[in-house]
Amino acid sequence: MSIIQAENLRKVYGDGVPVEALRGVSLSVDEGEFVAIQGPSGSGKSTLLHLLGTLDTPTEGQLRLLDTDVRSLRGDALADFRREHIGFVFQMFYLIPEMTALENVMLPLLPYKRRAGFDVEERARQLLERVGLGERLDHLPGQLSGGEQQRVALARALVNRPTLLLADEPTGNLDSRAGEEVLSLIAEMRKEYGLTVVLVTHDDEVAAHADRIVRLRDGQVVEDNAAL
Ligand SMILES: Nc1ncnc2c1ncn2[C@@H]1O[C@H](COP(=O)(O)OP(=O)(O)OP(=O)(O)O)[C@@H](O)[C@H]1O
Ligand SMILES: [Mg+2]
Repeated sequence: MSIIQAENLRKVYGDGVPVEALRGVSLSVDEGEFVAIQGPSGSGKSTLLHLLGTLDTPTEGQLRLLDTDVRSLRGDALADFRREHIGFVFQMFYLIPEMTALENVMLPLLPYKRRAGFDVEERARQLLERVGLGERLDHLPGQLSGGEQQRVALARALVNRPTLLLADEPTGNLDSRAGEEVLSLIAEMRKEYGLTVVLVTHDDEVAAHADRIVRLRDGQVVEDNAAL
C-alpha cells in the first residue's frame, strides 16, 4: 500500500515578504519504507515533514496519506486521522516537565482512553520497557538524560500504534552514542510494527540507516534513490 503520495507540494510562508519554502515536491512512500530526507539548512525539510504530518497545509499540491485525500479532512476528522495514523518525534523532545515518563507517553491518548480499544497505560508501560526505561516510569523529564528523554518521546510517538512515524532531526540534540541508540530503536520498531518511517537528518551516518535518501535543495527534490 502507498502510505504517502505527494504531488507538486508548494508551500509559501508569510504575506509580507513571501518565502517559497517548497517549490513543487513530489514524493511517494510505500508501506514499510524507511526514507531519510536530507538537504542544507533552509532547504524545506521541516516544512515538508510538517505537511506530511498534516500539521500544516500546502499552498498548492495534492497529498494522499494511506489513500486518503487529507484535504477532505477538516477539524476533528483531521485530528482523529493524525492521532490514529501518525507519530512524531522532534529534535527538542517536547516532553511535559511536570509529568512522569509514563504520563508523557500516555498523554496523546489520555482524552481517548475509553475509545482506544486497548489498555493505554499497559501499552505505555510496555513501550517504555521496550525502549529500555522500564525502571524510569515515574521519573520526570528533568531527571532523565537527553537520550532517555528522546526514548520517552519515541514511546509517546508509538503509543497510538501509528502507521507512519515522522522524525525531524531526532538525534540532533544527542551525543553520537545516545543518537545511535535512538536510531537503532527506530529501526527495530519499524520491523516489529511494520512502521513506515520518514526521518529528516543532516547527518550522513544517520541517513545511512535508511533504505532510501531524498535530497532537497531550495525547496525542490534534487535526488531520490527510490527503488525503480
Ligand atoms: N513559519 C515560517 N514562516 C516563514 N518562513 C518560514 C517558516 N518556517 C520556515 N520558513 C522558511 O522556509 C524555508 C525552509 O525552512 P525549513 O524549516 O523547512 O528548512 P529546513 O530544511 O528544515 O532547515 P534546517 O535544516 O535549518 O532545520 C526557510 O527559508 C525558512 O526561513
Ligand atoms: Mg528543519
